[in-house]
Amino acid sequence: MPIRADLILANRAYLDHEAPRWADSPSPAGSGGLLAAVRPIIEPWDGSKGTTWIGAGLGRYDREWTDERGFELIETNRGPVRHRRLYFGSSTWAAHYGEVSNSFLWPLVHLVREDLPKVTGYYPAPAAPTDGDWASYVAVNTAFAEAAADEAAAANAWVHDYQLTLVPRMLRERGFRGRIGFFLHTPFPSLEVAQPYLAGAAGRYFGEVIRGMLGADLVGLQSLHDLARFVAAATRLPGVTLERGGVRFDGRFVRCSAYPVGIDVDDVLSVATSAGPPDRIRAAREAGLPLVVGLERGDFTKGIPERLRAMTTAYRAGARFAYVGIAAPTREGVRAYEALDAAIEREATRAQEAAFAAGCPFANVRANVGWRDVVALQREADVVFTSSLADGQNLVPLQAAIAQSVRPARERGVIITGRDAGVASAYAGFELDGLATVDPLDEGQMVHTLTEALEARPGRISERFIGEVRSRDALAWATRFLTDLEDAC
Ligand code: G6P
Repeated sequence: MPIRADLILANRAYLDHEAPRWADSPSPAGSGGLLAAVRPIIEPWDGSKGTTWIGAGLGRYDREWTDERGFELIETNRGPVRHRRLYFGSSTWAAHYGEVSNSFLWPLVHLVREDLPKVTGYYPAPAAPTDGDWASYVAVNTAFAEAAADEAAAANAWVHDYQLTLVPRMLRERGFRGRIGFFLHTPFPSLEVAQPYLAGAAGRYFGEVIRGMLGADLVGLQSLHDLARFVAAATRLPGVTLERGGVRFDGRFVRCSAYPVGIDVDDVLSVATSAGPPDRIRAAREAGLPLVVGLERGDFTKGIPERLRAMTTAYRAGARFAYVGIAAPTREGVRAYEALDAAIEREATRAQEAAFAAGCPFANVRANVGWRDVVALQREADVVFTSSLADGQNLVPLQAAIAQSVRPARERGVIITGRDAGVASAYAGFELDGLATVDPLDEGQMVHTLTEALEARPGRISERFIGEVRSRDALAWATRFLTDLEDAC
């Protein structure tokens, strides 16, 4: 029997209903690495068993679609998904999502090697939450734990990401009988680097985050580096001791391990073989220049200003290429994101001027692009340029490898990734196979790597790389995690 996640708990719902029921227009599923990774492992609901997804109700018309307890069956191409939405008041949600999750934890967890707020002008200092904000984070986590505890027959619950770190412990305290797994999709920070932001209440709350995660039977992290940093931080807490393969806490063994996430290969492949060339690349094609593509959520962790700066320097040094950069709007209104737009704007204007002087098409836009265009852009690019300052995994390089697999091997491009993205450690040793690694904070290296990549050096995307991405797909990832979860007690 295939291993199944009975309960998936994620901050985001499987999709948000943005249209009324009568309009009969399907709502698109959300974006971000978590959804993309978890979607392929959902087991359709057969009336008594299958996966139940529990997420927050954030869509404008969600209530029209759900019963009074938030349940609905969502039709997908894989079959129906049993889905429960939890609804929160706007101030509770603003504090949970805007303050604790995304102004404190998100910038904090990405501090893996450098004090990023110090070395960039726009990366926000992780903001210590107020007691009131923290109470909202606790309230949201409690609601998720209670919803999961309602599912008494569930053999397991898989809790996802930094917005729900308290849930595993809360669920255990509520007497949940199934196994509890927790997976962190983001990096886990270095305590040494994060220390300046963990004075007083912030440090106490961060301790609660770790204790919450340790309520699980299995804690999964993206990379061996994240695992080492997590275990180091956990064993600094009173009552947590190191054991082989995990830690001991509250008289229980908590298994801790690394599971680098994968993608839905078949989905990318089917789009890559059928989607036409996107309009956005027409100027590049007409100019007959190599095409560099940047694609991501417009987040301060993605190193977008650093990339634009490197491109300015490359253009001024004589490089000739077209650029299409698309940043999807994300977390709008969250104050941690306030400085980013101005930084991107400034660097994009300079890069555009340099591109213009070099006679090269250049477009850097903030836009939501449909999935078909995303994959088509990844397929058409000569260089897919990501430059995360830190990233849990970053699925773009993996998607791009599969998207490019439909091209003849000698015409494929090169993918650039930031050295502190999980993908760089998961695919270490693939530098000659079309995955070049850069330090986004080292401008000289960025320029050099881009210039090399434009000449397809040190190597194009290879069959070896593509084969690895295929075999380490989302299903393999989830199967490994769930198998270990089953063995964990
Ligand atoms: C990242 C996080 C996810 C999150 C996604 C989109 O991938 O790891 O947990 O869902 O970004 O962010 P949002 O705030 O829109 O949910």
